[in-house]
Amino acid sequence: MRDQENSATSDLDIAAMRVEYGVDAGDNHPGLETDLDETWLSDGWEPLLRNWIEHATSAGITDANAMVLATVEMTDEGPHPASRTVLCKGLSPEGVTFYTNYDSFKGRALATTPWASATFVWPVLGRQVTVRGPVRRVGAEVTAVYWRSRPRGSQLGAWASLQSRPIASREDLDLQLTEVTERFEGVAEIPVPPHWGGFQLRPHYVEFWQGRRSRMHNRLRVVLEPGNTEVTAMKVERLQP
Ligand SMILES: Cc1cc2nc3c(=O)[nH]c(=O)nc-3n(C[C@H](O)[C@H](O)[C@H](O)COP(=O)(O)O)c2cc1C
Repeated sequence: MRDQENSATSDLDIAAMRVEYGVDAGDNHPGLETDLDETWLSDGWEPLLRNWIEHATSAGITDANAMVLATVEMTDEGPHPASRTVLCKGLSPEGVTFYTNYDSFKGRALATTPWASATFVWPVLGRQVTVRGPVRRVGAEVTAVYWRSRPRGSQLGAWASLQSRPIASREDLDLQLTEVTERFEGVAEIPVPPHWGGFQLRPHYVEFWQGRRSRMHNRLRVVLEPGNTEVTAMKVERLQP
């Protein structure tokens, strides 16, 4: 097999790629000029995460609400992790909400092991947030409210795709969309598919990471009492980078 790492077809030196964080934050990112400390969390983890998503959005980052969601699949060989990106579509002191297909790989993994870890990362800002905790389905009425806000094309796509199942070709996938589009022609309000909806991750831990010089980054971990959203009930610990 050809050794891709030593391939001469590209000059890209992956090992040499590095960024020094916390050096020249610039006028657009004044938050990076001071060290992340406990005072940033005085109103709780949720306002700070919301602030960082807002900041990333105003810095021009696309899908600043994207997070990499890790789940666990139980197999005969033991627990196997799997990860993929989803969009955070709800944020409250109770947790982080995302929407997906309940029959997808992740949906089935969460049905048997309802725990997840989700990581937001904005490398250009030198920031990362990880939330970890139990996951549960949101109520049908919560899903319905979000579903109605989605463009019709996205609604049709949710009906047309059996997410995570193999399909023979692109043509077959396009055909499924055509069939669904015809089926709902003239239907003003497309209903929520039975296999589609929201999950809420209710964090036990939230870690805020801010990149600093010489890899001496700031890491603050918020430990939450399950079910208690009071700011006074949270514990904040500094972790070594
Ligand atoms: C930026 C971005 C945002 C995404 N948002 C979602 C989402 O909100 N919900 C979703 O089900 N899949 C989303 N996806 C697709 C997932 O990453 C994934 O391919 C899909 O959910 C199937 O995952 P699974 O087979 O592990 O269940 C997104 C992908 C990207 C790159």
